[in-house]
Amino acid sequence: MRVTMIGTGYVGLVSGACFADFGHTVTCVDKDEGKIARLQKGEIPIFEPGLEDLVKDNVEQGRLSFTTDPSAAIRDADAVFIAVGTPSRRGDGHADLTYVYTAAEEIASLMNGYTVVVTKSTVPVGTGDEVEATIKKKRPDAEFAVVSNPEFLREGAAISDFKRPDRVVVGTEEERAREVMRDLYRPLFLNETPIIFTERRTSELIKYAANGFLAMKITFINEIADLCEAVGANVQEVARGIGLDNRIGKKFLNAGPGYGGSCFPKDTLALMKTARDHKAPIELIETTVRVNTARKQKMAQKIIDALGGNVSGKTIAVLGLTFKPNTDDMRDAPALDIVPALQDEGARVRAFDPEGMEEAKHLLKDVAFASGPYDCVQDADAVVFITEWDQFRALDLDRMKKALKAPVVIDLRNIYRPQEMAAKGFRYVSVGRP
Ligand code: UGA
Repeated sequence: MRVTMIGTGYVGLVSGACFADFGHTVTCVDKDEGKIARLQKGEIPIFEPGLEDLVKDNVEQGRLSFTTDPSAAIRDADAVFIAVGTPSRRGDGHADLTYVYTAAEEIASLMNGYTVVVTKSTVPVGTGDEVEATIKKKRPDAEFAVVSNPEFLREGAAISDFKRPDRVVVGTEEERAREVMRDLYRPLFLNETPIIFTERRTSELIKYAANGFLAMKITFINEIADLCEAVGANVQEVARGIGLDNRIGKKFLNAGPGYGGSCFPKDTLALMKTARDHKAPIELIETTVRVNTARKQKMAQKIIDALGGNVSGKTIAVLGLTFKPNTDDMRDAPALDIVPALQDEGARVRAFDPEGMEEAKHLLKDVAFASGPYDCVQDADAVVFITEWDQFRALDLDRMKKALKAPVVIDLRNIYRPQEMAAKGFRYVSVGRP
């Protein structure tokens, strides 16, 4: 099949490369000339394990190409995916759909023959109806269907999430469009991936409900972690104890500094706004957003307390800046709140992150960036782990202790074991563990 992907951001690029790897012929379109020029040279603008090779292979096989000119790509396509950004609109938290509607207009003016227009961007309930109306207005004669097909991939695991998903959701009631979507995802049928065909609005809501639920689950365990600290219980054991109940599930019960990233913060806000606008507010989501925002400040206080209540003039080494490991993405990363809060109290911050420092340099002020973890902790008054990169999991603790001015470790991701750290002579503080 011929597939066109509008938008070469995270979702567009990964989905485009994976569809090409399924054997479809994929053209990725983006207005950003610099980005397309880089992609044409094989340079991948984001850090995602496996993506560079996947793109390279499929370009070489002639199944994947990049262009700034949408005309031929849209004219010849069986399916055109809208995978543009939907950032939070400034001021009110609503998803900004400008790019989605611009793409819809563009598709309308260029499409030729029966075309399935698929929204893959995370869009509020009812957006598909608007996209359909936009296209119909411009091309009353056109043969097309608008389908919702939300994406559930995680950064850092995006390719395996795309190729081995828990499920695929397809929102349309038109049989002809369902047939096209079935053909597109045929390789997954062979793996027996459940494909849920549903009405378009339901599909749009499934995406927000999934992200909202996961954000709530993390926030729940974070609050349980606080209670564990107060009563002397262990959150990891609580998580295991509840997670083995299949109704709860083991995943997404890792307590930490609060969720971040390009999705949960934005999508919970958008869900909250949509629900309010329809006079059906979701109080659990509202509370989740409030608790998670407050948590980042709370983490700064936790660090200050671990340093005896005063960080003025002290040097704090921060290991890990990105919102999670295996990405260079700094969007809404907890570090962006924690680091300035420490600086406001007079701390000097030195940081190291394996992939995120380039991005962090634009977002954090007055931070000294180190070339590696040991360089980062040298003569520091404490070290704080904010992101659980694998390379931080097995550091040479004796070397780290020797390098530090004081053996204080604040582990916001529970990477190390408290007994082990105590035995090594560290003053060790983690999340929700005695
Ligand atoms: C999330 C969802 O997991 C994907 O299914 C979805 O497709 C994506 O949003 C999206 O809407 O595009 P992502 O933002 O890449 O994916 O990252 P996650 O792995 O979900 O982590 C989000 C945040 O939650 C991170 O800050 C992470 O550290 C935090 N988290 C996650 C925890 O604090 N504890 C956990 O147990 C799990």
